[in-house]
This record gives sequence, structure tokens and C-alpha cells, in this order.
Amino acid sequence: MVDPLWYKDAVIYQLHVRSFFDANDDGYGDFEGLRQKLPYLEALGVNTLWLMPFFQSPLRDDGYDISEYYQILPVHGTLEDFRRFLDEAHERGMRVIVELVLNHTSIDHPWFQEARKPGSPLRDFYVWSDTPEKYQGVRVIFQDFEPSNWTFDPVAGAYYWHRFYHHQPDLNWDNPQVERAMHQVMFFWADMGVDGFRLDAIPYLYEREGTSCENLPETIEAVKRLRKALEERYGPGKVLLAEANMWPEETLPYFGEGDGVHMAYNFPLMPRIFLALRREDRKPIEAMLQETEGIPEAAQWALFLRNHDELTLEKVTEEEREFLWEVYAPDPRYRINLGIRRRLMPLLGGDRRRFELLHALLFTLKGSPILYYGDEIGMGDNPFLGDRNGVRTPMQWSADRNAGFSRAPYHRLFLPPVSEGPYSYHFVNVEAQQENPHSLLNFVRRFLGIRNRYAKVFGRGALRLLPVANRRILAYEREFEGERILVVANLSRYTQAFDLPLEGYEGLVPVELFSQHPFPPVEGCYRLALGPHGFALFSLRPKEEMERLHLPDWASPGEEVMEALEDLPSVPLSGGVESLFVDTLVDEGARASFLSALGKVLGGRGWLASRPGRVELKDALRFQKDPPLYLTLLRLEGEGLVQEVFLPIALRPEKEGPGVFARVRGGGYLIELSQDPGFYTLLLRRLAQGFEGRSLRAHYRGRHRGPVPEALELLRPGLAAGEGVWLQVGLVQDGGLDRTERILPHLDLPWILKPGGGLYWERGRERRVLALTGTLPSGRPQEAFAYALRLAGEGLARLRDHPVGEGASGLMADALRELEALARLLGVRLALLHRALREAEGEGDGVPLLNRGLGAFVEVEGEVFLLALGREARGLPLWDLARLAYDLERALYLAAEEVPEAMDWVALAADSFEQALLQAYQEAAQEVLEGLDRFPQIMLDLAQDQALREERLSRHRVLERWQAKAKEWGDGF
Ligand code: NOJ
Repeated sequence: MVDPLWYKDAVIYQLHVRSFFDANDDGYGDFEGLRQKLPYLEALGVNTLWLMPFFQSPLRDDGYDISEYYQILPVHGTLEDFRRFLDEAHERGMRVIVELVLNHTSIDHPWFQEARKPGSPLRDFYVWSDTPEKYQGVRVIFQDFEPSNWTFDPVAGAYYWHRFYHHQPDLNWDNPQVERAMHQVMFFWADMGVDGFRLDAIPYLYEREGTSCENLPETIEAVKRLRKALEERYGPGKVLLAEANMWPEETLPYFGEGDGVHMAYNFPLMPRIFLALRREDRKPIEAMLQETEGIPEAAQWALFLRNHDELTLEKVTEEEREFLWEVYAPDPRYRINLGIRRRLMPLLGGDRRRFELLHALLFTLKGSPILYYGDEIGMGDNPFLGDRNGVRTPMQWSADRNAGFSRAPYHRLFLPPVSEGPYSYHFVNVEAQQENPHSLLNFVRRFLGIRNRYAKVFGRGALRLLPVANRRILAYEREFEGERILVVANLSRYTQAFDLPLEGYEGLVPVELFSQHPFPPVEGCYRLALGPHGFALFSLRPKEEMERLHLPDWASPGEEVMEALEDLPSVPLSGGVESLFVDTLVDEGARASFLSALGKVLGGRGWLASRPGRVELKDALRFQKDPPLYLTLLRLEGEGLVQEVFLPIALRPEKEGPGVFARVRGGGYLIELSQDPGFYTLLLRRLAQGFEGRSLRAHYRGRHRGPVPEALELLRPGLAAGEGVWLQVGLVQDGGLDRTERILPHLDLPWILKPGGGLYWERGRERRVLALTGTLPSGRPQEAFAYALRLAGEGLARLRDHPVGEGASGLMADALRELEALARLLGVRLALLHRALREAEGEGDGVPLLNRGLGAFVEVEGEVFLLALGREARGLPLWDLARLAYDLERALYLAAEEVPEAMDWVALAADSFEQALLQAYQEAAQEVLEGLDRFPQIMLDLAQDQALREERLSRHRVLERWQAKAKEWGDGF
């Protein structure tokens, strides 16, 4: 089903088939060329194309002088080529608007050639007069070229009327045959499948003595009949776009009561944007926004900055015109008629800030934006070309010959490409900009990604101006069905501070849309500052929603754990809880069911190296009497692996926390405390006091020197931190903290955090490190995986709604830059670490390994610190790299679960980060990585292993990707 209001969500790209791309090397762009460039347009983020006239024409007004409405100019191809282009555009979800030039034809049109003959039955198709005295006082539009609206035709022996060039006679709309003929033209192209029509020069259809002959009621009625004819034949869904360069009150009637055109260009606003920018005052924009308000519900403004014509100053006051001419076209060569013939970037003096600012307005003000081809890369103009041709030069695709536009000999090109000065195609071209994340092109693409994501808010939402006291600031809120976006723009070339009146929005969090970073929540009036010509877009989100985003997956229990929770096993305890823990008091039956319940819940704990089949209690120490809390040392056996794990377990009266695993008959619940921040806080406090304890089997000793904050935060099971301090307990997957405690103090790298305290278990000469503590630089710490997850989430959100198309890597490199930097940093650090470990532990029969992934690191204020090693093992350094690559990839998939629209980017990003990681490692290690060709196989094995360890979608996705790669590469894998 076509959404009949689709044009409200449209982002329109205006182009000349002639100037876009030449596929058959004749020097003219053609439909086949345009078809080939559809992927570019799709990747840019536009969804509607407006094609300037491509019909049969002598091209004296660049095609607006049509000599046959039903034929395509042969240099552009055939009707078949047009159809193929149209079909493919539609397949890509793009719509196509073409020109309907109703007001005039070329003098070459057979109608005119017939009409001028004396006694011709077609005479009435045009407007004739015996004298040029009729319609006195009607202005001449092309005043630089035409002295009058009348031209004498010696064949006809009479004057004919023309509002534009003398070779463009006006059709006579008082003749019903003319209207019928033009309806037929519209039907022809609509039957072919086009989605809409731009009504060229629409205000001038009728003439009446004593009037300006513009916007006459008869003309408005003709527009309504056109709409009616269109709808009767096709139903809703095809649109009319009025080109009426008029004052606001003259433009509004074209919309009718919703029975006129669907869209009209916002001509009143356009020059005032340039005015506001130069005066550094929002007033001109505000005034026009108010003047153009209140159009019918289904109507829409088409917004634009530049187009194929001059920047028209017809409908501004004389003072405004003089000012604009003076500041934007001091060189008279750039003035034409009542306007300025320049492209956007040169108009702005090449100032990127102003380029960005104007796009921000174009994309966020009320209406559907139109981009003029080439402006997205900041193309320039050529003052030496006549008329308005200086802004219609070939699209600059590359630095190759003819700007990559055509392979024809240079002298055969319809117009020369800009090849001199700073806008020459040698510097300004698509190819150069596509891969450069900082290019104008990628800025526009990124912005359109945001615009498309919030298409309804920007295209259909209400606009409310915010009364900021500082007039250099334009601020408005866009709102649609409860979704709110705030836009602030600094028209000044200097930094400005201001207060945004946001009363009533207390508690909402402004999330900056380019970075996806949350700003401090609103607490009333909101103070902001914007740099020179700066702007910002904020989506206002409820605080709670923000807090839910990007929670690491250990924080949301897997299905198995949920099931286990629902169906809690019960432990038959007759006496006290000590009968579970203390061998001399043990109740065997109760202990067996306690350990089996514990085994069940530990089976769902992703941080264990394998699922335990058997759980044995190796030792236990009462840590707190009431409510009871025991420190336990467990021996887990399963999947061919034996692990020793330190785990605190409590008995509590309430069924609280994520670690509940059994109900105790006789009252209370058994809870494992790996995810209970309260336990970590308690442990740190006891260590700081100097801890001593004795179980039946062993001696427990502990100490901590350093800060003891009020409360610790859990970074992940096994790791907690607070201001200036970290604490980890050895329940993690790889065999405790013994090696960390032994080796880390000997590694002299500034980003390695050395332990300064801990909890130790001793029995004769046997010793285990149960927990370690140490100090942290100030700032809020975060586990490195959670950090990567956040960067992935923000990065993918920036890519949301961009198809992975042409030039994808440039866009991705920018959006995910922080994560890529992390991958590189980790590569370098891992190389240095391997060297240091080799020195500390010796080479032995292999290379000592970190043997852990991102879990070994913690992030504070953007810096990444190592705080743990894995168990001792020998193997390839490549394994460590694989662990890191795996974690980065998993973070991407996990983040993409929150941003499903960006899922397609993950594979590309994962490949590039893996490259970055390996490359950084090799450069820092200054050696060839041994066994590099085995990397894909190692990744596949690791992914398989990890998928078995835990039933999580993200783990499966990583596995699937590596399986697909293996299949693709076949034996070479
Ligand atoms: C408006 C078009 O935009 C312009 O390029 C053309 O010259 C006039 N109409 C006359 O057709």
C-alpha cells in the first residue's frame, strides 16, 4: 500500500540527467548513466529524485523549452532506458518526480509552428495580439535578456505573449484544448509510473487585463482541476509540486483547501536563510516560518537552499535585495536578472561551518528538503558560462578525465566540468570524498541518516520556536506523536552562550544525535554554548529509557536461569545452615540437594569456562553470622574440565537478587552473591580492617590498603569498583587470580594496575588467591567489555538507517571511530604485554599468554587498564588476539540487538576491527605473527566454543558469521 502522504517523508535530490553521468560516451548524461548511479544516491540517503526536463528540446532554455512532450531527447536515451531507470529506482524504494512545463513551449513545438500560420486552427493555442500594448505593466522576469513580454512574429503577423525567453511562447489556457492537451501529457508520464510532477512556472497560466497576470484565481482553479484529474485517474499517491516564486500570501492559495498542489517550494524562506546567516540574526527566518504556517494538513513545503536557477531575489524587499547582492555577489558577473547565479559552497565562501549549519536548517525545518546535485560534495560554479549554465556543469565523480562524468573527448561535452580554482574536480569529487570520513559528502550522508531515522518528526511534526533571548541563536522543537527533537543553531560566526527555556521538560535527557551521547538531564532552564556557526540536535528521552540502554548481557539473565528461578529446587534443611557448609556438622542429604541446585544455576553462568556437571565443596568459611554468609571454594567438574571457583553464598529470608538458586525448607533462600555489589563492599571493608579466619581446613588472611568508598559498583560478576579502587574475586572462568598476583607486579607498563591487597587461602604450602584489590585513577570505571559495548551502541546508532552501500567504509570509519581506536590500542598493548610476559615468565615451550579477552581490562575516563591475567598456558599469541577480536565482534552484535536497523553494518565493522587489531599488534611487536593463516580457523573454533558455553543470540551470530566465512573460503580456510 502506498502511503499517500509519502512526500512528507521525502528527501528530494534534484538533478539534470544531462549533467549526471554519461554511460555511452557522447558527452551528455543519460538515463542509463543515471541508473548506474542509483546506488550512490541510495547510499547518500535521498529517497526521491526530481529530474529536470529531459524531453525533446532545442535546449535554448536548458530543456524548459519543450518541442515535443512525448519524446525523450535522444542524447538521454530511449523511452525504454527511461523505463528501466524508473523501475530500478522504484525497486530501490525511490520515487521520481518529473517536470510538467504547462505555461509555455518552445517556438519549435509543432503547435507553435502550426499556430503562427495564418488561419491555422491551432492559432488559439498561444496568446496573440496585434499590438504590444496589451497587459501593460506586467513585469518582465528575464529582465537581463528580454525587453518585453511580447515578440512580433512576421509569419503570424502578430505579437505573441511570453513570460520568459522570446523563444518560449506562453500557451493560451483560456483555450480548453490546451488544458486537455496538458492533462494528456501528465497522464502519459503518470501512466509510465512517475510519482509526481513539478509544475514549472505555474503562476503565469492566465492573463487578464489590468492585473499582474500572476496567481490569478483562474490559474488556481486550473491547478485544482489538474489535481482532480490526477486523482480521478490514479487515486491518491501522485504529487504536484508548485514552482511559484511568490510572496507567502500569494503562494498559499496554490494549496487550496487541500485540493490544490500537495507541495510548493518555500521560496519566501530560502533567501531569508541567507539573510539571517549574514546578519547573524534569526529574525528573518522566524518571520518567514510564521508567514508560511498554517497550510492544509496534507500539504507540505519543499525546502531548498540552491537549485539550477539563480538565487532569486525577486520576492524580497528592495533593501533586502541590495544587502544580499552586496554580501553574496559583490562581483557583478554573478548577478543575473534579480538574483545571484552561484552554487551553495562558493556562496558561502567555501566555509564548511556555514555549509553544515545551512544543511542543519534544511534538514530539520518544517518541510521536505531538496538537495541540488553536486552540492553534497560542495561543487563550485563557472562564471564564464552564460545564463545559469555556470551552476549546471557535469557532476564531479572523480579526478579522472572529464571529472569521471564522461569518456567522450573533452570538446564533445555538453558543458565543461569545473576544472580551475579550489572547486576544480581534481579536488572536489565524489571518489575523493567517499572514503574520507571527514568529507562534506559523509557529513551530508550522516545527517540524512539522522533525518531519515526521524523522518516523521522532521517531515510531519509540529515546529515550536523557542524564545531564546540571544537573537543569534535559532532554537526550535520538532514534535511528532510524543517524539521530541530539539534543534539549536548559532547564526553567529562567534561562540555564543544562551539559556534554552525548557521548563516542563524536567527529567528528560537530551541525547545529542550525531554522537548519541546523553547530555545532563533537564532541570529547568538549560544553559548551552555553541561554537561559531555551530548547531546541535537533541532527542529528548525519558531518563529511565536511557538507563536501560546497553546493559551488558550478564545483567539480564539467560533463559535457563529464568526457568531455574521459576522452578526453584528446595533444600531440606532441618537444623541450621551450617549443616550445608561444615563437614563436622553436615547433613549429607541436604548438602547433596544444595550442591545440585547450585550446579544447576552455575550452568547458566556465562563467566564459567564450562558447565559444571558435578559440584564439590572444597572448603567454606563463615564470613558473617546473621544473615549467614559463607565464603566457599568449589570444585567444578564438567565438559572435561576441572575448575576451582571462589563463590560467596548467603541464606536470606527474602527471594531477592539475581543469584537466588534454592528455597530452604524451614525458611529462607540460598543466594550466590557473584552479582551482589553489597557483598563486594562488605568484603573490601573487612579486608581493610585486616581479615583473619579459620575453617576446618585452611587459614584465610586478607588486607587492603587504599580507599574504602561507601559502596562499590559491580562492573561484572567478579569485578567491582568504586572511586579510586577495584576489587576482583576469583570466581571468573580461568582459574583464579594466582598468576595475576604473582606476575603483574613485575610488569612495568603504566597501564597495568598492580594489586595492592587481597584475600588468600592457605593450607600448608598450598595457597590460593581468592580476591585482589588495588587502586584506580580517579574517574568512573567501567569494564572494558561494557565500554566496547557502549562505543558499539553509539557507533551503530549513528549508522542506523544507512544502507551498507557505496562508500560504506568511509561512513563506518567515522561512526565507529572510537571502537576502532580501541581495537588498535588493544593490539598495541597486547604486543607489549606479550613481550613483558615473555621476559617475566620465560619462553618455555611456547609463548606466555594473557589468555583473556576484554574482561582483563577496565576503562577509566577513556584510558584502558589491564588488571588481570588468565591462567598460565602456552600457545600462540594469536589466541589472545582472537579472544579480543571475538569480544569486539560480540559487542557489536550485542549492540546491534538494541539498534537492529544497523545490523547489516556489523560484519563490515567486525572485519575492519579485526584488521586494525592484527595490524596494530604486528606493528608494535615488529615481528611477523606466527600462524596468521590459521587465524580464521582459530576464530571459528573460539566462536564454536563460546556458543556452546552460553545460549546467547550474539554468540550465535558471531558463530554464524565465521561459519559462513569458512564456507565461502572453502578449503583455503
Ligand atoms: C522555471 C525554471 O526553473 C527555469 O529554469 C526556467 O528558465 C523557467 N521556469 C522558464 O521555463
